[in-house]
Amino acid sequence: MKPREHFGSRFAVIAAMAGSAVGLGNIWRFPYILGQYGGAAFVLVYIVASLLVALPIFFAESVIGRRSGTDTFGAMKKLAPGTPWKWAGLLTILSPLLILSYYSVVGGWSVQFLFKALSFNITGDVSESEVVGYFSRFISSTWQPILSHTLFMAMVAGIVLGGIKNGIERFSKVAMPVLLGLILFIVVYSLTLPGSMAGLRYLLKPDFSKLTADAYAAALGQAFFSLSLGVGTVLTYASYVKKEENLVVSGVGTAVSDLVFALVAAFAIMPAVFAAGFEPGSGPGLVFQTLPYIFHKMSQGMPIVSTLVSVAFFLSILAAALTSAISMLEVGVAYLVDQKGMGRRRATLLLSLGVWLLGLLCSLSFGPLSGVKVLGLSFFDLQDALCSNWLMPMGGLVFTLFVGWWMSRADVRDELTNGGTCNVRLFGLVYFLMRYLAPVGIVAVFLSNLFL
Ligand code: PFF
Repeated sequence: MKPREHFGSRFAVIAAMAGSAVGLGNIWRFPYILGQYGGAAFVLVYIVASLLVALPIFFAESVIGRRSGTDTFGAMKKLAPGTPWKWAGLLTILSPLLILSYYSVVGGWSVQFLFKALSFNITGDVSESEVVGYFSRFISSTWQPILSHTLFMAMVAGIVLGGIKNGIERFSKVAMPVLLGLILFIVVYSLTLPGSMAGLRYLLKPDFSKLTADAYAAALGQAFFSLSLGVGTVLTYASYVKKEENLVVSGVGTAVSDLVFALVAAFAIMPAVFAAGFEPGSGPGLVFQTLPYIFHKMSQGMPIVSTLVSVAFFLSILAAALTSAISMLEVGVAYLVDQKGMGRRRATLLLSLGVWLLGLLCSLSFGPLSGVKVLGLSFFDLQDALCSNWLMPMGGLVFTLFVGWWMSRADVRDELTNGGTCNVRLFGLVYFLMRYLAPVGIVAVFLSNLFL
């Protein structure tokens, strides 16, 4: 068997892990939640939630991944032989594949909108109603979204086929800086639009009265989703991290990058939304309807700049979605390679095909299958609700309980401090958070999903 690959540098580790973390959650959810729950006041709560709950879970996954040096199922089998923990590991192989099947549909939408932006179909000589109405017509059609979903999955498979160093690392090292550059370019554009200051006020004005129970729950849920916790991506990537790398530093680096990207995305989007006189919104409507309309409207005055900005915007969405999607596929690929002895090529193609097929249902659930509901939800919404509200927190709970209560303190310390050579003074605190606060935080996420 070939020796297991490793990420080549600390920058590579952080680029890949931040690549997984920075995704649609940062671009279409965070800016909205930020304004809704009190701007700068919410940032404080978000940072506290990240530090006290999300990061400890991130460390827990990192500990399991690097200590075992294998996939999520194998990791549990190796660290807790002869116990049922491995089945929990198996669950976290299935959940990222399930997420990928609908994430890829949205990734496909970004491919389609990128083509539209490139061919001046957003900012060129098109009518306003064409720009606004396009999204609903597009997603409810049959073949075009399937084609886009196929293209997106092909890109994901192409990168993962390259392996850790030549695929995931190489792509993330280029995509993440490019992504930052593109979003900063949009920030500059957005802030120079007349009327954009109202957007800044929306984002920044600290309003402590908005910090309700909802706000705390939103901060916790968002920190959780945004750091891609509980689905084995952190664990799997950590299994490719060299023994001498400092896990605490790469975890903090990832969380800081994730927050920076979320804030920058907020400054790119909300000022433009306010400048155009819109109510702030979130989700697909914001990204694929409101913003194209804004680019169209602004293009009356500055056609070239608006076209460039619209291309930059959809390229950003695509890059952010791709770096997240490859991490989801890698979880399953690592499993097939490590546990079943399958070649990377076969494993990647097999899983991509399965995910692609499941994605077809999600894609069609906006069109021909829109009448088919399970528990009152379309396939797409059902998968999203199942994964974000249940499978992700459940996986997070499994990982923290495993590290906090099953593994020995000495082993956890050994892994997080690299045999007592770093982070020694921090360890007690991190261990306490992993054992007590993180599980309580996850239970709070569950309860808020149930009752809020
Ligand atoms: N963290 C990603 C985001 O904020 O969009 C979402 C995500 C990525 C979820 C990878 C799950 C995952 F495995």
